[in-house]
Amino acid sequence: MSHSIALRLAAMFALATLLVFGLISFALHHVLEKALDHHQIEQITTKYQMMEYMISRVHSADHWDRVTDKLDSMSPANGSTRYWVWSEDQRFRYGKEIPEVAAALHGPTGLGEIAQPGRTDPMKIEVGDIPANEERPAVRFIVGIDSAPYFNTRNSFRLALLVLSTVGALVVTAFGLMIARLGLKPLTKLSQEAGEVSPKNLSQRLQLQQLPTELTQLGAAFNGALDRLESAYQQLEAFNADVTHELRTPLANLIGQTQVALSRERTAPQLVEVLQSNLEELERLRAIVNDMLFLSRADQGERASRLTQVSIAAEVNKTVEFLDYIMDEAGVSVRVQGDAEAQIETSLFRRAVTNLLHNAIQHTQAKAEIVVDVSAEAELGVRIAVSNPGDAIPTEHLPRLFDRFYRVDSARAKSWESHGLGLSIVKAIAEMHNGSVFALSRDGFNVIGFCVMTAEVQK
Ligand SMILES: Nc1ncnc2c1ncn2[C@@H]1O[C@H](COP(=O)(O)OP(=O)(O)OP(=O)(O)O)[C@@H](O)[C@H]1O
Ligand SMILES: [Mg+2]
Repeated sequence: MSHSIALRLAAMFALATLLVFGLISFALHHVLEKALDHHQIEQITTKYQMMEYMISRVHSADHWDRVTDKLDSMSPANGSTRYWVWSEDQRFRYGKEIPEVAAALHGPTGLGEIAQPGRTDPMKIEVGDIPANEERPAVRFIVGIDSAPYFNTRNSFRLALLVLSTVGALVVTAFGLMIARLGLKPLTKLSQEAGEVSPKNLSQRLQLQQLPTELTQLGAAFNGALDRLESAYQQLEAFNADVTHELRTPLANLIGQTQVALSRERTAPQLVEVLQSNLEELERLRAIVNDMLFLSRADQGERASRLTQVSIAAEVNKTVEFLDYIMDEAGVSVRVQGDAEAQIETSLFRRAVTNLLHNAIQHTQAKAEIVVDVSAEAELGVRIAVSNPGDAIPTEHLPRLFDRFYRVDSARAKSWESHGLGLSIVKAIAEMHNGSVFALSRDGFNVIGFCVMTAEVQK
């Protein structure tokens, strides 16, 4: 189920408003109730005290009429204020007796309530005894006031509070929704921008300066992901271009040679020769494809496994032995100096050293001495540097030597002998060992090599 943040925020605003309004309403209601009660008591007590004074001074039946007249004049026709006087003596009584008041005539004195026939609101009463005075016996005096106006005030106030709270909550919800939508606008914009990214405009990035702080982290993470995607994509595209470019010529050659061979009658030995030459080229093609597959596996993050702790100088020496024949042919010699131990995958390591030595042999004069220097470096791990006397490599080429298919001498690029993949494989192997590569050219020597991380350095 998908949730809308805006809706959820609005609902939370509404809930908070209801809670606050509810609390305020409760408090207001309580205050009003108290004030109304107080007012009612004040009113009834004033009326009671006024008449109590008058009744207490009456001491004969002759004077009682004055009391009844006064009480009559003070009882409004709508019955909102009523008076009762009761005594043992028939002559000193007042008020139409209703069954509801009967209990109050003999019950306790003080403030109280009695029900009114046919109405829901009660009548507030004050009951008191006025002591006898000469001929007049002790009387019970009751004042009752109708609490309907208070009841109504309270009820309409309650209704008003309820309506106001509800309307308030609704208004806040609507505003909350609007505000939340407004606040979330940058998010909508962000998703729109993100939605526009495609392989055609992979270099497009989200505009972080315009984002609110809460979203910059998300935006930056997204841009970071795009950076990585873009570089992977570019690598892939470059790789595709390289493959097409590098394989097209040899394939065209193979097809051409085969077509020429087929163009007229050939003797069996001639055909064998063509097939042999084709086979050689096919094997070179296979070598390129294998190298490229190796590089693309390395690109995908393949690491050196089957690590063994060995003496690097010893490994280099073993590799040199394999190249004995080629070195003799080229008339060069190799000297290995220094040593250090490291954990390496030996087959990969030898492949890298072979590539470096091949290059050195190719680019040095006869009778030259190639030196392989092995040393342990503080932060780089074990460094293997292959140096050979030779023409200086122009500085601008040095950083690019390890690029795929990169050859300093573009004339050689056409040559079948060189694919320009040797050093990129060295670099891949160094990276598979968490290491790095380097190339320098100085004082008539070209020094190219790589480092492999030792377990200690990695810690
Ligand atoms: N020792 C060296 N001295 C001078 N130039 C070198 C040396 N090693 C490499 N280079 C230059 O670096 C380029 C790239 O070398 P790399 O080994 O990657 O390719 P390659 O030797 O041309 O072909 P491959 O090794 O695939 O057969 C070479 O073409 C060469 O121009
Ligand atoms: Mg090479």
